[in-house]
Amino acid sequence: MSDTNEAPSAAQDYPADLMDKLVSLCKRRGFIFQSSEIYGGVGAVYDYGPLGVELKQNVRASWWEEMVHRRDDVEGVDAGILMHPDVWVASGHVEGFTDPLVECRNCHRRFREDLLESDQCPSCGMKEQFTEARQFNLMFKTFMGAVEDSTSVVYLRPETAQGIFVNFRNVLDSSRQKIPFGIAQVGKAFRNEITPGNFTFRTREFEQMEMQFFVEPGTDEEWFETWRDRRVAWVKSLGIREDRLRLHPHGPDELAHYAKDAVDLEYLLPFGWKEFEGIHNRTDFDLTAHQEKSGKKLEYVEAHSGKRFVPYVIETSIGLDRLVLVLLANAYHEEEVEGESRVVLRLHPKLAPIKAAVFPLVKKDGMPEIAREIEEDLRRSSMTVFYDESGSIGRRYRRQDEAGTPFCITVDGQTVEDGTVTVRDRDTLEQVRVPTSELRAHLRERLAGAGS
Ligand code: GAP
Repeated sequence: MSDTNEAPSAAQDYPADLMDKLVSLCKRRGFIFQSSEIYGGVGAVYDYGPLGVELKQNVRASWWEEMVHRRDDVEGVDAGILMHPDVWVASGHVEGFTDPLVECRNCHRRFREDLLESDQCPSCGMKEQFTEARQFNLMFKTFMGAVEDSTSVVYLRPETAQGIFVNFRNVLDSSRQKIPFGIAQVGKAFRNEITPGNFTFRTREFEQMEMQFFVEPGTDEEWFETWRDRRVAWVKSLGIREDRLRLHPHGPDELAHYAKDAVDLEYLLPFGWKEFEGIHNRTDFDLTAHQEKSGKKLEYVEAHSGKRFVPYVIETSIGLDRLVLVLLANAYHEEEVEGESRVVLRLHPKLAPIKAAVFPLVKKDGMPEIAREIEEDLRRSSMTVFYDESGSIGRRYRRQDEAGTPFCITVDGQTVEDGTVTVRDRDTLEQVRVPTSELRAHLRERLAGAGS
């Protein structure tokens, strides 16, 4: 893992204009589209296409498996996006979830003051034209019920964490958990960002994967370190390059109002080192605030000693969309193969949207029929597969390389004679012949070998 501010080798590693290339590949192959594109798009919202939805689903499932299914001390929840408006008063979001907004008097574009590098407008170039900053609340507001007035205001949640805090008592009372234990949730969050951008890096609608781990005060610092190390290990298990990964511990002036300690996991994207996960020691800030506002006790009573306390919370919070962008940048490679250039997404096989593509070498001599049978067989074993008989075999391989498909299976003349097919490896390009009857097991074994 990188421990310096700069990692020139990793940065130089990126092909020129990688972000443009990624955006174009994502559209071309059906990973990510601009929202409402036929209407000219809508600001900073993206839609996931057939491959994108599979990739996102695989990342989400891997996180859930790691954080919930493999642990006996974490439970899952799925809370509503709309919550009681007092939740956001207690959490501090109504008062403080703001960014300083300035407007250029010349071109009327708006910017976040804290992200400006000088007094020059990044849009029109005029100097000293910014208005005084005003605090702009990032929460989207809407109305609940038939009357649209101040008493019916509700917010689209700007983080999933509060849905966990307000369910602390419910989960504690309905599960057999004792402190220390955690609650995990995956879901949409909404922020009316002033300066979104860099594709899906900062958007107005996104998905978070968050976990709050409730601990006894005094044990929080140790748990903070434990969760930091677990999160780093998981991220590495997805194949994230270590020279593009670093930890950024927050200094006292960077800490959020609710945090005693915090560390970000950062990845070196083409536009610099950027946070994609935050781990916070939130102390008893949230539970105490909700206890005061709601009037409901959110203490924990230790069964054997009768000791009462409001638990401290260690939070791990990662943006699913932002992680997907990191994984795409991490996977993107351009290389020469047999005198031809290819683009390949070296996604971890467990995350790849399609696990295997099946091709008949030619559209005759019984090859399409055999390939279709193989496709069906693999589908029945819950593997995502893709059948393709159009274009030269080379072009079909290239299409799958761009989609990140780890294995391509080709039915050829020899298949008709001896029942074997070729299996081509996306990364090594090595081809082996495998009897059709053993194909399922062969692929399963290789996917598992890759840590699937
Ligand atoms: N509950 C804590 C919390 O929400 P945060 O640092 O504001 O903390 C956590 O957000 C993660 O959510 C970030 O590390 C990032 O991955 C993701 N995230 C936040 N704002 C985002 C945005 N506008 N677009 C995409 N992802 C975002």
